[in-house]
Amino acid sequence: MSRSGVGARPRAVGLFRIAGALALASCAGDATDSRVTTPVATPVADPREFRSMEDFLGGYWNRPIPPQGPAPAAWSSLEASLAPPECGTCHVQQYEDWQTAVHAGAYSAGLAGQLVSQEATNFGFVRSCLVCHGPLSEQQSKLPLPEGGHGTNPDFDPQLKEGGIVCAACHVRGQVRYGPPTREGATAPSAEGMPHGGVVRSDYFEDSRFCAGCHQFASPAPNGKSLQNTYEEWLDSRYATEGVGCQTCHMPDRRHLWRGIHDPDMVRAGVTIEWMEGSELEPGRVGLRVTNSGTGHRFPTYVTPAVDVTLELLDGTGSPIPGAARSAEIVRRVALQGGSWVESSDTRLAPDSSMTLTYPAPVDARFVRGEVRVRPDAFYRNVFAGLLARVLTDTARVLIEAAHEGAIASPFTIFDDTVAIGR
Ligand code: HEC
Ligand code: HEC
Ligand code: HEC
Ligand code: HEC
Ligand code: HEC
Repeated sequence: MSRSGVGARPRAVGLFRIAGALALASCAGDATDSRVTTPVATPVADPREFRSMEDFLGGYWNRPIPPQGPAPAAWSSLEASLAPPECGTCHVQQYEDWQTAVHAGAYSAGLAGQLVSQEATNFGFVRSCLVCHGPLSEQQSKLPLPEGGHGTNPDFDPQLKEGGIVCAACHVRGQVRYGPPTREGATAPSAEGMPHGGVVRSDYFEDSRFCAGCHQFASPAPNGKSLQNTYEEWLDSRYATEGVGCQTCHMPDRRHLWRGIHDPDMVRAGVTIEWMEGSELEPGRVGLRVTNSGTGHRFPTYVTPAVDVTLELLDGTGSPIPGAARSAEIVRRVALQGGSWVESSDTRLAPDSSMTLTYPAPVDARFVRGEVRVRPDAFYRNVFAGLLARVLTDTARVLIEAAHEGAIASPFTIFDDTVAIGR
């Protein structure tokens, strides 16, 4: 059993392209042609029948995930339910963790605010987002009709929709429950009479490609790198060859936490921030170094966060010297120009690489203060402000305002230190 994905570079990972101009503005989405597929009732995707990882990704992650169909008549309604709180009756730890994770909040105000006005008129657009933000058929209010357009979905469950990336999105296909090998590494079938007919176990759950369908775009643009390029970045890192996959860092001990750029402790664990010393600096300068020492892809991986590194000189009384400050931004800056994404800069840190910020210190400078501040939603803050400047329905405005406030409140500081300048 391995968490690898080491070896052959899969060609067909994450071929999900988003339709519509709003997608481009809202999710830093990819391309234009929608590859969203039509749900079919069969066949059931059984990992035991997939010959290769490519096979698995195409079958298991065919989205929207086909309707689950009726559960076996012998099951209790608890066993048959797709609702996370019901799974949580028996899987207490996973449910408690999941509730605190961004996956549970993926049907967010920022998303819903963009979808409410499209539900009635442009369901194709809604579906293009739910591919990642709510991928079960049961989460979609409408289904495509054979003659074109969309009709009512008899299996639609509004509560499930609001659950975002629910347990069943990763674990249930055709009413069969799938999961990783046992902790001892066994994939043998469950014993007779287990709740929900037991579980089909597959080591695909431990592979980084399991996550790539929603975290890697296909198109290598702009500038030779997809807008969401996390899996490729990981593949180019030592973590891929060392067998340290997405789950190792984001699901430690199989916990359903998925902490990332919104979590100060996670971000601190991924970088090393140090004062530069002695021969590392030209005489009379001060400097700070930020190293991507523990992040398995670029720091940060998406175009949406930004990290500010600042140096500020202080006088003998500890007061800032006016004008004596310098900042650098760690960010991949992209903008939509004439319908395509253009990259203007990329200062993100590849795994094991560093950036330094130095500053000449005049004699009256006695102390230097360094600060590293993370703005997880830097890009979305602007997107939401842009949406608020447009004509919106009342419902949409309330949601986008909440999302905008959330984006304003999310920045945090991971490093703030003042040291005396040695001469
Ligand atoms: C009535 C209790 C009950 C409910 C409700 C329930 N499960 Fe389970 N589940 C179990 C038991 C017991 C096992 C162990 C089966 C085995 O080892 O063969 C299990 C096994 C699993 C496994 C494999 C766990 C492992 O140890 O590797 C997964 C994944 C899983 N369930 C997911 C779900 C999901 C998703 C839901 C909701 C859609 C759900 N379960 C609802 C009792 C339940
Ligand atoms: C390929 C998967 C994928 C698709 C398709 C997708 N998203 Fe996202 N979305 C993500 C991921 C991953 C994040 C978190 C990373 C980030 O911030 O970019 C995210 C974050 C967001 C956020 C910011 C976080 C939040 O929930 O407020 C918004 C808003 C959003 N998406 C809206 C949309 C909209 C609208 C669409 C459809 C037009 C869409 N997304 C389609 C994967 C996707
Ligand atoms: C984004 C996909 C995803 C979602 C959503 C998700 N899981 Fe999992 N789950 C996984 C993966 C991947 C593993 C295996 C992790 C590993 O082996 O490192 C796993 C493992 C498990 C296990 C086995 C745990 C163990 O200790 O052996 C159980 C039980 C489980 N999940 C239940 C749930 C329940 C219940 C929910 C909803 C509350 C849920 N999962 C939501 C992906 C997911
Ligand atoms: C069905 C699509 C889907 C799958 C599968 C999926 N994710 Fe996500 N993930 C998302 C979306 C969408 C978001 C953004 C949610 C939001 O903020 O609205 C996200 C957000 C995240 C974040 C961001 C946390 C933060 O602070 O912004 C991490 C980390 C993450 N996922 C890790 C994983 C890992 C590891 C796996 C594989 C075990 C995985 N995801 C599988 C769709 C998915
Ligand atoms: C060696 C540990 C490690 C591995 C392996 C790893 N990550 Fe991360 N990841 C981190 C850390 C630390 C952060 C927080 C810092 C950051 O956001 O870059 C993070 C952040 C994220 C985020 C938040 C968004 C952002 O812009 O950074 C997402 C999404 C994510 N990881 C997905 C993945 C996926 C998918 C994989 C597998 C292809 C993966 N990670 C592999 C450690 C890891």
